[in-house]
Amino acid sequence: MGSLLIKNGEIVTALDRFNSDVYIEDGVIAAIGQDLQVTADRTIDAQGHYLFPGAIDVHTHLALPFMGEISTDDFESGTAAGIAGGTTSLIDFVVPAPGNSLIEALEAWKEKAKNAVSDYGFHMAITWWSDQVAEEMAVCVKEGVTSFKAFMAYKGAIMVDDGQLMSILKTAKSLGALVSAHCENGELVAELQERLASEGKLSPMYHEKSRPSYVEGEATQRFAALARGIEVPIYVVHVSCSEAVEAISKARSRGQTVFGETCPQYLLLDDSVYQKPDFLGAAYVMSPPIRPEGHSEVLWGALKSGQLQTVATDHCPFHQKGQKEMGRDDFRKIPNGGPGIENRLALMYTYGVLQNKITLNQMVEILCSRPAQLFGMYPKKGAIMVGADADIVIWNPEPENVISAKTHFMKNDTSIFEGFKIKGEPTWVVVDGRVQFEEGKLDVVQGAGKFIKRQIVEQY
Ligand code: URP
Ligand code: ZN
Ligand code: ZN
Repeated sequence: MGSLLIKNGEIVTALDRFNSDVYIEDGVIAAIGQDLQVTADRTIDAQGHYLFPGAIDVHTHLALPFMGEISTDDFESGTAAGIAGGTTSLIDFVVPAPGNSLIEALEAWKEKAKNAVSDYGFHMAITWWSDQVAEEMAVCVKEGVTSFKAFMAYKGAIMVDDGQLMSILKTAKSLGALVSAHCENGELVAELQERLASEGKLSPMYHEKSRPSYVEGEATQRFAALARGIEVPIYVVHVSCSEAVEAISKARSRGQTVFGETCPQYLLLDDSVYQKPDFLGAAYVMSPPIRPEGHSEVLWGALKSGQLQTVATDHCPFHQKGQKEMGRDDFRKIPNGGPGIENRLALMYTYGVLQNKITLNQMVEILCSRPAQLFGMYPKKGAIMVGADADIVIWNPEPENVISAKTHFMKNDTSIFEGFKIKGEPTWVVVDGRVQFEEGKLDVVQGAGKFIKRQIVEQY
């Protein structure tokens, strides 16, 4: 596999910053220290660069069949685009159709993931309930799929009710696994969608109107209440609004173990995006929707204060042409989701760190180490330490760029961050001990990514 020496960089962890060399052998960090006297197959001079642990995206949907379409990035293109932006591993959601075996779905996802270029793990979505599901959850955990997701929305498709959610929580508790939920009140969303449709309100802007923030706040509070009764830790995915932050903070102040994730689109966009001409608002149709102004300040504050712990992307891209346009006459038919895996680090660095919303150490905590800890991968992932996987982002803080679908690696004809100015970029990205991105060019190997068998987290 070979060896690599990274000299003169500044290592950034969740707590520290220090100048040090890093020596990598056979895909693993073998030594860290000043002026390391070793001979390596290759040496990189990282003067003027930060060294971050490879970032982890714990929320992606690659090649996901959803609302009659399949998300455009598969495991090869999605992991490659991730590397180009500094994300060196991810956790994707296996979503079995209601009534289907979890294990068969897991096998199907493993097959899809065979062409991944970087490491990946899976969460298992629970879309129905039976004794078989409970038994299969135990098999998943043994296989290293140690987290589950329930959808409190998408009525008539993959939504579970409160009774089913309680069964999921109880089973996960007995297995030591973490349950996450998509928190929106699916019954109310269906009611509001129906009402808007009957009034002829069918353009993309009504997507947000059909699932206002209180709908998310209520479901988040309910999820926390169920977890309180069952006495089990939970993780709330894609938090988009102040009501949800409030529900999480209240639960945490009661002493509950509740974690929350948000995404760049909720931190950086507001609902004016739905007014874009030429049906471009459809690009932002995702659930939860992009919120009115004011919510993002609360999300930034919650990241800063530690009430929210992670930023993932919910990367679930659909082309505008041929996919999003399925809902040209009815927002309910627009496949929900958008791209983002490639842009997360640059956006968080530019709009988080450089605008003093979070510190550089917090950025590493939120994107690298905390995701690894919460999902049973630390310190193999999410850390620059001896023995850890050699996934390292060598970050140049100076270059300025503009995000565009014309230049991104993601397989998507649109960017939800089109025109956003960014500062900072990875000059090199080391994955599994090998430089797989250098000076704007990818050098990846199809199928080189490995399945991450995740551990149970004994104590959060
Ligand atoms: O709109 C979204 N978020 N699509 C992906 C599925 C989900 O709810 O996470
Ligand atoms: Zn969701
Ligand atoms: Zn998602």
